[in-house]
Amino acid sequence: MLKKFCLGAPLFLCLLLAAPTLRAQGKGKDAAGHPWWQHAVFYEIYPRSFMDSNNDGIGDLNGITSKLDYLKDLGVDAIWITPCFPSPQVDFGYDVSDYVDIDPMYGNLANFDTLVAEAKKRSIKVILDFVVNHTSDEHRWFLDSKSSKTAAHRDWYIWRDGKGPNQHPNNWLSTFGLSAWQYDPNTKQYYYHYFYPEQPDLNWRNPAVERAMFDVTRFWYKRGVSGFRLDAVDTLFEDPNLTDNPVAPGTDKFGRPKTIEKNNKKLPEIHQSLQRLRSVADEYDAVLIGETWTQNVAQLKDYYGESNNELQLPMDLMLTDLNFSAPVFREHIGAVDAAGGWPTYVITNHDIVRSYTRYADGVHDDSIAKMMAGLYLTLRGTPIMYYGEEIGMKNTDPESKEQVKDPIGKLGWPLEKGRDGERTPMQWTSGANAGFTKGTPWLPVPPTAKTHNVETESKDPNSVLAFYKQVLSLRKSSPALLEGKYIALNESDPNVYAYLRQNGNETILIVLNMSATKQEPKFDLTKQGFSAPNTKALVQNSSKAPDGPLKTVTLDPYGVYIAKITK
Ligand code: NOJ
Ligand code: CA
Repeated sequence: MLKKFCLGAPLFLCLLLAAPTLRAQGKGKDAAGHPWWQHAVFYEIYPRSFMDSNNDGIGDLNGITSKLDYLKDLGVDAIWITPCFPSPQVDFGYDVSDYVDIDPMYGNLANFDTLVAEAKKRSIKVILDFVVNHTSDEHRWFLDSKSSKTAAHRDWYIWRDGKGPNQHPNNWLSTFGLSAWQYDPNTKQYYYHYFYPEQPDLNWRNPAVERAMFDVTRFWYKRGVSGFRLDAVDTLFEDPNLTDNPVAPGTDKFGRPKTIEKNNKKLPEIHQSLQRLRSVADEYDAVLIGETWTQNVAQLKDYYGESNNELQLPMDLMLTDLNFSAPVFREHIGAVDAAGGWPTYVITNHDIVRSYTRYADGVHDDSIAKMMAGLYLTLRGTPIMYYGEEIGMKNTDPESKEQVKDPIGKLGWPLEKGRDGERTPMQWTSGANAGFTKGTPWLPVPPTAKTHNVETESKDPNSVLAFYKQVLSLRKSSPALLEGKYIALNESDPNVYAYLRQNGNETILIVLNMSATKQEPKFDLTKQGFSAPNTKALVQNSSKAPDGPLKTVTLDPYGVYIAKITK
């Protein structure tokens, strides 16, 4: 790093230039040199749905503050709050009309400061969502931009003439249905929006946009925020020549001809912007998490940057789309682990069907939820949980188009039901509205709240919640789980996914039955240096193996066995 700064510069100047970076590298690391976010467990909070403190039916910041003890006890180190900034709420906050304030429905800046201070007392860091690709059409930048072709902010967005009368500038499509171009009769041009028309894309080729957006991050860092989750980062840049996207066979879920988003996604320019954004983050020892929808591990790797100078935590969202089988998971995780970066694992979030529902077979649902926790919370990398996952919350989709709140569900019904199902209120108790609100919840509370809620599960040692707590607490106390090597075992087993995590003298064995039948895998760990290994079980569900010499592990359907291995 020093070398890069010093080329041809006098020594005093090079030291001066390098100082902020060196300071950032030294800050926030543990004795072994690990930055704080490598050992942290992150937890995503959808603020509308977490806890309502003023009983208007919508969750809020004070609601989150009131649940910090729960999160601490669960084993959470950092919370990522999805957008809580002023917004017309067309996309429930992902249409930001002011980046440096709090939407009154969630509280105010004072409430935010209290949340950060209370979180800090519990050693919980606060991460905000940074909607980098677009603003709301009600943001003052866009209001000015659309006011005239010569407005100061005109070039902050992507305005173009149509190809001809009533013809869009090109064939790009909005991922939320219809075209990506919206005509403005006032200035007789179209503006580009990859998402809803109320979410015009910012023009990141304009340096003024970059400066203003970087200042937004500084504002929050100074208020105690420890990093950002970058929304829709794949779509930051578009081909300035507006080349049409290739058309593919078939139609999409909105009935439009399919296109390959070659010219408006993952353009190389993204990386330069991310490097500059990272320099700002480094000044504050902050972490950048990416909403990185990649098709392969090579693309994921690109997001770390050539010298790990872009995103520290690009999410592996491919994991949420794998076929549920031991060989598929083994192959994918092996490739991500070997890619060279620090993996970031996610099994569910506010845009995809909850993992509980995705993997459920209707018979072993809780066991499967525990098995998935036993899996991704023991991998080498940083996990990002989603609220309610730890109590086995399932998707509860709207039953009719009239019930839908998410606009994409209204447009795409019934093929696309929208994302309401994964955003229902957190289930705190078995009582009215699951203890989320005394008012009318903005989305209905699922019927499963009667059995799957924090209050009930806290009293049950066999609950999904109890299992999550055990695994999270083991993870915290085990250097092997926190940073040890990942070593796949029994690599041709079609049903059982097993691996070791190893750090110095500590070795942990993780055995996961990813099938609906009983399994009895055997292990030969000679190659790993154990000719006669002994085991001591640490965490289990639906599995048996006597402590002592390692022979067979017996696993019921979807059983989990986690044990310490000694010579
Ligand atoms: C990704 C967010 O996670 C999603 O909820 C949102 O609708 C789009 N980006 C647009 O901001
Ligand atoms: Ca409220």
